[in-house]
Amino acid sequence: MRVIFMGPPNAGKGTQAQLLQEELQIPKLSTGDILRHAIAEGTEVGKQAKTFLDNGDLVPDSMIIDIVHERLTKADCAEGFILDGFPRTVAQAEDLDQVLAKHHLSLDFVFCLTVEDEVIIERQAGRRMAPSSGRVYHLKYNPPKVAGKCDITGEDLIHRPDDQEDVVRHRLDVYAQQTAPVLAYYQQKGLLVTLDGTTSIEDVHSQIMKFVNTRTQQKDAHCG
Ligand code: AP5
Repeated sequence: MRVIFMGPPNAGKGTQAQLLQEELQIPKLSTGDILRHAIAEGTEVGKQAKTFLDNGDLVPDSMIIDIVHERLTKADCAEGFILDGFPRTVAQAEDLDQVLAKHHLSLDFVFCLTVEDEVIIERQAGRRMAPSSGRVYHLKYNPPKVAGKCDITGEDLIHRPDDQEDVVRHRLDVYAQQTAPVLAYYQQKGLLVTLDGTTSIEDVHSQIMKFVNTRTQQKDAHCG
C-alpha cells in the first residue's frame, strides 16, 4: 500500500498517518519530522531548513526531494509506505512519480483531509508533540494519559515553535498557493480521496480503513 496524506496544517495528517502505520506496519515518512530532527541534531540540512520552518515557509524542493529519494529507496519501503507532508509542490509530485516509475511502482491513494481555517487555528493552540517520535496529542481532543508526557516514550511534550497563530495563518497561505495545485494534479490521476477532517479522529480513521481494506481485497483477488 502506497499512501499520501495531504491537507492544510493541523488537518490531522500526522495523526492519521500514525494510526495507519500501526494498522499496516509499513514505514511512515513525515518530511516535517525529518526536518525537525535535522534541526535538533544541528546537521547541515537542519541549519539550512530552520528559518523556513520557523517562518512557516516551504524548504526548497531540491532539499526535500533529496531527503525523500534517499528514504524511499531503503529496503523497508519495498512493501509500501505512508507519506505525510510530501509532496507539497507540483515539482515534488512530478519527481515522486519519476521515482515510482523507475521502480515500477504506483500510488494507491492520496487522502486529503479538509478542515476549515478557524478549526485549524483552534487545533494549533492545543497541539502538543513528542519531539523524538513525532507523536501528536491535543489537550482537548487527544490528551496524553499523563499531562505533558508522551504515552509511549514518556518524554516531555512540546508546543511546536511554528504553532503560533500568525505563523499558522501564513502556513495556510503557503498551502493555498503552493500545495493546493498538487490536489488538482492527483485529482486528474484519479488518486485523490477527499475526507472531512473535522469528524473525530476515530471516524476519520475508519473512513480511511474502508478505502484501504477495499483496495487490499481487490489486490488479493487479483493475485489469487
Ligand atoms: P509539517 O510538519 O508537515 O506541518 P504541516 O503540514 O503544517 O502539518 P502539521 O504537522 O502542522 O499538521 P497535521 O496535519 O499533521 O496535523 P496533526 O495530525 O498534527 O511541516 C512543517 C514544516 O516543514 C513546513 O512548514 C515546511 O517548512 C517544512 N516542510 C515539511 N514538508 C515539506 C515539503 N514536502 N516541502 C517543503 N517544506 C516542507 O493534528 C493537529 C492537531 O489536531 C493535533 O493536536 C491532533 O491531536 C489534533 N487532531 C487531529 N485530528 C483531529 C480530529 N479529527 N479532531 C480533533 N482534533 C484532531
